[in-house]
Amino acid sequence: MEVTRDRVLEAQFHVVPARVDAAYGMLSERERHLLFNLTESHYRGDGAIVDAGSFFGSSTVALAEGLRANPRFRTIMKKAVAKPIVSYDIGFLPAPLSGSVTKETGGTVYTWGESFVPILERNIVGHEDIVELKIGDFLNEKWPARPIEICFIDLAKTNDLNVHTFRQLFPAFIPGQTLLVQQDFFFDRLPWIKVLMGYLSDHFEWLGQVGPSALYRYTTPINPEKYSIDPFTELPIEERVVLHKQGDNELLPVRRRFALAMSLCYLYETVGPEEALRAAREVKSDFTDYVATDHSAARRLQRAIEQFDRLAKRGRLKGAPTSAAISVSG
Ligand SMILES: C[S@@+](CC[C@H](N)C(=O)[O-])C[C@H]1O[C@@H](n2cnc3c(N)ncnc32)[C@H](O)[C@@H]1O
Repeated sequence: MEVTRDRVLEAQFHVVPARVDAAYGMLSERERHLLFNLTESHYRGDGAIVDAGSFFGSSTVALAEGLRANPRFRTIMKKAVAKPIVSYDIGFLPAPLSGSVTKETGGTVYTWGESFVPILERNIVGHEDIVELKIGDFLNEKWPARPIEICFIDLAKTNDLNVHTFRQLFPAFIPGQTLLVQQDFFFDRLPWIKVLMGYLSDHFEWLGQVGPSALYRYTTPINPEKYSIDPFTELPIEERVVLHKQGDNELLPVRRRFALAMSLCYLYETVGPEEALRAAREVKSDFTDYVATDHSAARRLQRAIEQFDRLAKRGRLKGAPTSAAISVSG
């Protein structure tokens, strides 16, 4: 029976409740278990738990179930000044420019462009007492004067969003205590996340990697002047490359090192397609053995090379003298 599995086995043998794995959403099982574990075993109730980018709610459910399983749950709730978990999402995926897309996953039907909030609400049912849903553009959100003890970020899909998480949420982190999960760290794209975490490397201890997620502990306070700089748009490319490369480490699985190498190509793309193309060709030679075994990685790399090559050719054509100019000068 579900009750037996959730309550007895969980307490005695540390089994994660079935609902954590069953919730609709994008997170891998290992990442859900990480979130569950953070709120179950590490949360003390000294600050909020932020779920930035909940989508259908697999992260929300994992954080909420973990909190409820926390042995100090009652004490935490007694001293809580607000609902402990704050979940953010804009509440819809943008509709494609032409036509509409409807998809069915695990019995959930969703049409792009429409609100998925009813699906999210259904997914987290029973946790309304501990989860505050904040639906809207995160760029308009201001974090109140409340410490943050656990922070899960899964919406830094643009650098503006990344900088907004940095300037709004990070000042509320508790030195020596706050645990931060950057969900898109070991992912082919979104290089601004790696640059930001490199920029802040004196203030965080890297604790490990779970799937594409990176886990950190906030160690020493960030001085206020640091917040005035957006490292991704304001630092020279040489510095951004160094900061990005700090995320790499020989002990990482090759699949994750490949993702970081791909992300570096997209960082170089901010300089120009020629630079991005050169970096992508380097990835091809550095990861020859790996891409031979991982077809998805090989496809992603090939697509990037073709895209950078197309853009580089277009740039060369624009920069080249026109035939009229050639005939005049000739
Ligand atoms: C990868 S999904 C999150 C997956 C989720 N953590 C889960 O467990 O399934 C990223 C989410 O970020 C949200 N998002 C993107 N831009 C946003 C914005 N400007 N404000 C708020 N949410 C945003 C999207 O709506 C999407 O649901």
